[in-house]
Amino acid sequence: MSSSIPLNERIIIALDVEHPEQAKEIVKKCESHVGFYKVGLQLFMASWFETVDWIVNRGHKVMLDLKFFDIPETVKLAVEQVNNRGVSLATIHGNDPIIRAAVTARGDVKLLAVTVLTSFGEEDMRAMGMTQSVEDLVFFRAKRAMELGCDGVVSSGLEVEKMRNKLGEKLLIVTPGIRLDPTPDSGDDQKRIVTAGMAIGNGASHLVVGRPITKAKDPIKVIELMQQEIISAAGSV
Ligand code: C5P
Repeated sequence: MSSSIPLNERIIIALDVEHPEQAKEIVKKCESHVGFYKVGLQLFMASWFETVDWIVNRGHKVMLDLKFFDIPETVKLAVEQVNNRGVSLATIHGNDPIIRAAVTARGDVKLLAVTVLTSFGEEDMRAMGMTQSVEDLVFFRAKRAMELGCDGVVSSGLEVEKMRNKLGEKLLIVTPGIRLDPTPDSGDDQKRIVTAGMAIGNGASHLVVGRPITKAKDPIKVIELMQQEIISAAGSV
């Protein structure tokens, strides 16, 4: 499956900016190399579907990362709003009835389940009286989401390998926390970071990359370095 994804769709650039104009500048700067962009809560609140439609009308793909989480009927109605707009991927969060409702409403958009937020750690699990590890919970939820008909999951680069090996080739695995230099002190707030090559080599289908590209002096240079890693890693899997 993964080898059939074009190189310019492997990296999904996270447009984590305040104004639609800033997002458009990033797209214009990067579109010669990247044709996939993530719109999250911040940008969506600033421009509703305007930026999404603008990106789609330029011929690019959009991942709408709003992590729908509500009662099943409300999530179903929200997914219906995303159908038929050219959005390629949307994120949902939740338990079985919520995921079932989202899957029922899905039209042309593919659904990605957010398993456990990366900000949720072992101590949070203990505080809620849960005894399993975060890793086990991530894997359990990913398996469940797939059984219920989700198209893929969002997963940290460190968990990708197990998911790919145990859940098969069909699943989309979208991995954030990508850096050119994977040493922890090279980073910012991202703790579980991997390189583009490591994530693809471990079985990720797509990578979400924000600041390493959007804050770079030369974004195209960073994209080219990451795409070189992707080519090498994809050739070896
Ligand atoms: O700038 P950076 O590359 O760290 O951006 C990562 C993007 O991936 C952000 O938009 C963030 O919301 C998203 N993300 C994440 N961890 C997750 C899910 C999404 O960092 N578990």
